[in-house]
Amino acid sequence: MNAAVLPPPSPRAAGEPAVEIHGLWTVFGSGAKSFAVHEDLDLTIERGEVLTLVGGSGTGKTVLLRQMLGLQTPTRGTVTVLGEPAARLGRKGAAARVGMLFQQGALFSAFSVLDNIAFPLRELHALPDELIRETALLKLRMVGLKAEVADRMPADLSGGMIKRVALARAIAMDPPLLMLDESTAGLDPQGSDEFCDLLREVHRELGLTVVMVTHDLDTLFALSTRVAVLAEKKVIVTGPPAEVVEFDHPFIRTFFLGERGRRALAPLQDEGTPPPAKAPALPSREAS
Ligand SMILES: Nc1ncnc2c1ncn2[C@@H]1O[C@H](COP(=O)(O)OP(=O)(O)OP(=O)(O)O)[C@@H](O)[C@H]1O
Ligand SMILES: [Mg+2]
Repeated sequence: MNAAVLPPPSPRAAGEPAVEIHGLWTVFGSGAKSFAVHEDLDLTIERGEVLTLVGGSGTGKTVLLRQMLGLQTPTRGTVTVLGEPAARLGRKGAAARVGMLFQQGALFSAFSVLDNIAFPLRELHALPDELIRETALLKLRMVGLKAEVADRMPADLSGGMIKRVALARAIAMDPPLLMLDESTAGLDPQGSDEFCDLLREVHRELGLTVVMVTHDLDTLFALSTRVAVLAEKKVIVTGPPAEVVEFDHPFIRTFFLGERGRRALAPLQDEGTPPPAKAPALPSREAS
């Protein structure tokens, strides 16, 4: 065990975890130019959780999501998703089991909104077109967009609408697991709040497990049941947000207890959640 594990927030659904990662090494390059991104990393994500992965830029968060999707093979170690090796998800199987909102390249620009959402359904070559269309329209409504948007092209949408359509495509096949990479990046605070509300609704309605990467502390505190912190090439701590902010590590101090972090924590404190006891004592923490 190489992460400090704080007590789990609440009992989870029975059955195997949604994701189990053991002894994961990711090494890029070869010879003298090789470098390790992950070294002996462990992480378990239970079903029904909203787990947020945080870490500095380049710490391997996106690579880890890609490994969970079976798109990238670890150098060493095991990645098990919904009870099976991630590599076995396969391209078509993946859309049915894991919905993904990538950090870059959200939509196919040459396809209409409807065709974007319908894409994973069409790839099955098993459903009649009318059913595909109805399902895509249902998902469009589910993400708060009107049917009129269906025939528009991605270039004619706002940033927030693009994220919504990408989310509709990710959940087109009702996957039990949803992964989001910086899904609120590039949105203004209002757009980001709205997308957060939408994610909360989708999580509740579909009862899925969410794994997300975000630098946005408002999103993190609003949605996460648990946070996993990636630093020193490992997951150094996992736990509910209010507990993780207490963990003494330079990255956590900078990330959560800087100006942005205090702003994001303030509403939690107003709602009566006990504030992290040492949050204001920033200078003394830096003595270590
Ligand atoms: N296919 C690849 N070949 C070589 N290096 C790679 C490859 N994919 C990722 N890397 C490197 O691995 C490291 C981790 O990349 P990753 O994209 O996972 O970072 P990240 O934590 O998602 O960062 P950010 O917060 O900026 O998105 C980076 O140094 C990146 O350059
Ligand atoms: Mg990334």
